[in-house]
Amino acid sequence: MSSSFKSPHVDDRRDFGRLIRRVGEVMAKHLTERPDMPVDSSLPPMELRRELASIPLAKNGMTADDILSLLEDKVMPWSMPPNHPRSYAWVNTSPAPISILSDALATTLNNGLADYDHSGTYLMYSLGRWLMELSGFVDATGTPNGMAILLGGGSAANLNGLTVARYWAAKRDGWGIRVEGLQNNRPALIYYASAEAHSSVQKCVEQLGIGTANLRSIEMDAAFRMRPEALREAIEKDLAAGLSPACVVAAVGSTNVAAIDPLDDIADICEEYNLWLHVDGAYGGIVGLDPAYTEMTRAMSRVNSLTLDPHKWLQVPLDCGALLVRDRQLNHENYALIPDYLRPAGTDEGSVPWPSEYMFELTFGDRALKTWAAIARLGRDGVRDMIVNCNNLARILGEVIGESDDLELLSPVSVSTVNFRHVPVGPSLSESELNILNQNISDAIVDSGEAHIPTTKVRGAVSLRACFLHYENCEEDVHHLVSLVRRFAD
Ligand SMILES: Cc1ncc(COP(=O)(O)O)c(C=O)c1O
Repeated sequence: MSSSFKSPHVDDRRDFGRLIRRVGEVMAKHLTERPDMPVDSSLPPMELRRELASIPLAKNGMTADDILSLLEDKVMPWSMPPNHPRSYAWVNTSPAPISILSDALATTLNNGLADYDHSGTYLMYSLGRWLMELSGFVDATGTPNGMAILLGGGSAANLNGLTVARYWAAKRDGWGIRVEGLQNNRPALIYYASAEAHSSVQKCVEQLGIGTANLRSIEMDAAFRMRPEALREAIEKDLAAGLSPACVVAAVGSTNVAAIDPLDDIADICEEYNLWLHVDGAYGGIVGLDPAYTEMTRAMSRVNSLTLDPHKWLQVPLDCGALLVRDRQLNHENYALIPDYLRPAGTDEGSVPWPSEYMFELTFGDRALKTWAAIARLGRDGVRDMIVNCNNLARILGEVIGESDDLELLSPVSVSTVNFRHVPVGPSLSESELNILNQNISDAIVDSGEAHIPTTKVRGAVSLRACFLHYENCEEDVHHLVSLVRRFAD
């Protein structure tokens, strides 16, 4: 029997030089033209949406050039807001050009990060040290047993951290979660987080079988920070009820208002009651590089696990989340499972632990290259300056609001986030009228294509939430945003 199959991929491999030059031009055109496009350019006309959703699978494959033409004409013109410097939406930003390029190199190699000694695995260990250093996670010992695990995002990193916390708490209580599961009527493990915690924390608790009935929502102070005294009271109450306090989730840069929970006090409480401390720093985990936030985040060196999201403030292309763990042995105990068809990590001199023994995922792409490149391009001072710039812009916007009769701050300016609303001078409007007015202002700004500032709610009030994360943001953007709010309010 003979086989005459020849894949068209063979032709493309041979023609790769020409094809990549074509793609390079499309990418460069996009990056050049993007600032002049409407900020939200994501939605194609209805006819094109229908066409894209119903392309029939042809009997014979398309040529590489036809595929690229289709993508160039019908996909590339439609870009979501975060790819634009005047998008202040959510906690999302544009990828660093060097990371886009590095990611292309990573996919060319296709070296997964699971379980092999290869160049990317070693680079990941450098990156891990860098992330520990940038976030202040490194302690006086240099955190020799620490490790960074790269995942799909902040939600996945929180899940990984809170899973290891569950393993650790069960072990502390004298039982093994991997064998028993949650089936043996043990005293319930209790998790604690502030009411401002990201929704993924609740999802994690649900997925882990802890259950929302065992997630305590801890009261906050006026600045939306967890109240340590309320945490202590909740722990005491649970102990008195025979339950098993296990883990506290603190935020450094909560999603809505960028609050920073009082880490030092919370770390003291965790030490006193022997609880796991996980910090969700998906957004603000590296804010301590800004001298204005260094003291507030000093206790990062005391936390057990920390979520960072390089695809947020570090301008890494989607996707890359990171979990930093202080004692990777616990991750190994929780996750390691090495069947016959896999090998355990090598023990040769210079070999490094293989990520898949420390996390749930097995095969996944090399998220290290693009993340390493984004940080390498800036250096430590460059990352700091970028963080300081974004925080300063938030502060400037806060000052402009403070000096205006027609603008009102809805939460304290924190990290690079400002929550505010327009309150017309003159006839006083009810809260619901103000909500409608500010929603309309947001919608009108989005429709104008000049900026993108969706709303959230702060204590029930509709808020224009501006989050500065883009590497090109500057003071002119702040004044432009304020002028847009006034123009559309009129
Ligand atoms: C504080 C915080 N934690 C977790 C997440 C979830 O991260 P991801 O969307 O990457 O899963 C976010 C997302 O905005 C966040 O702001």
